[in-house]
Amino acid sequence: MLVSVKEMLLKAAKEKYAVGHFNINNLEWTKAILLTAQENKSPVILGVSEGATKYMGGYKTVVGMVKGLMEDLDIQIPVAIHLDHGSYEGAINAMEAGYSSVMFDGSHYDIEENIEKTKKIIKMASEKGISVEAEVGSIGGEEDGVIGVGEVADPSQCKAISDLGVSILAAGIGNIHGKYPKNWKGLDFDVLAKINEVTDDVPLVLHGGTGIPEEMIKKAISLGVAKINVNTECQLAFAEATRGYIEAGKDLKGKGYDPRKLLAPGFEAIKKTVKEKMELFGSINKG
Ligand code: 13P
Repeated sequence: MLVSVKEMLLKAAKEKYAVGHFNINNLEWTKAILLTAQENKSPVILGVSEGATKYMGGYKTVVGMVKGLMEDLDIQIPVAIHLDHGSYEGAINAMEAGYSSVMFDGSHYDIEENIEKTKKIIKMASEKGISVEAEVGSIGGEEDGVIGVGEVADPSQCKAISDLGVSILAAGIGNIHGKYPKNWKGLDFDVLAKINEVTDDVPLVLHGGTGIPEEMIKKAISLGVAKINVNTECQLAFAEATRGYIEAGKDLKGKGYDPRKLLAPGFEAIKKTVKEKMELFGSINKG
């Protein structure tokens, strides 16, 4: 069923596992993630950035596609359609179209404006039973053309935002979107522990899930992280598998150029990546 992330993540935080947020880009991506979640009885969050929403046609297309797949494929586990790094207007549009969860990323505003805008989004969302993710401190790296420098969050600002009634909170703790550089210092667990302490029982979100070592993921979960965002890793797996198919000349044999054949290895690669993450995050059989 299509749900907000609130109950799903309160349960995860209580039982000390995390639910994977996997970004979607098209039908193959969405189908691969939904089927993997169903096969492994895991709850799942489909993350959709504004750029990916636009690429697929728009908010209504995304909602229609996800709902159609869930019905046709008999997907019974809890699924959320979640706007990833939404702008103020984007969050409103997503809510109107039927996304069950939105992130309003006000981290680039000063804290007063972030608070003001987050408050308004929470009010609109609560009327519709939609969950809201807010962000404090920025996540480093580049996503959809937005470059973040990776500013570690201030725990007192995290408290101010979480006290507004957000369902979940993303905080920059040295995490980066995309691949991690060789000289990456790792996650700042002292800050994460402080944030977890002051934000009471608001589940925390770890962005930039690609390439974070297993022990760090487990430690983050033990310190209140209940949602982990993964995007680049599925993209890399899809690209590698597709390249392998083409480099082996398989598209030139018989009807190997048929998109249903051409995209199949990439589809399977996404499934494998998603399953590995669900195992690591501990969400299997929790759906
Ligand atoms: P990665 O692309 O690094 O996995 O990050 C995904 C993310 O945080 C989406 O919000």
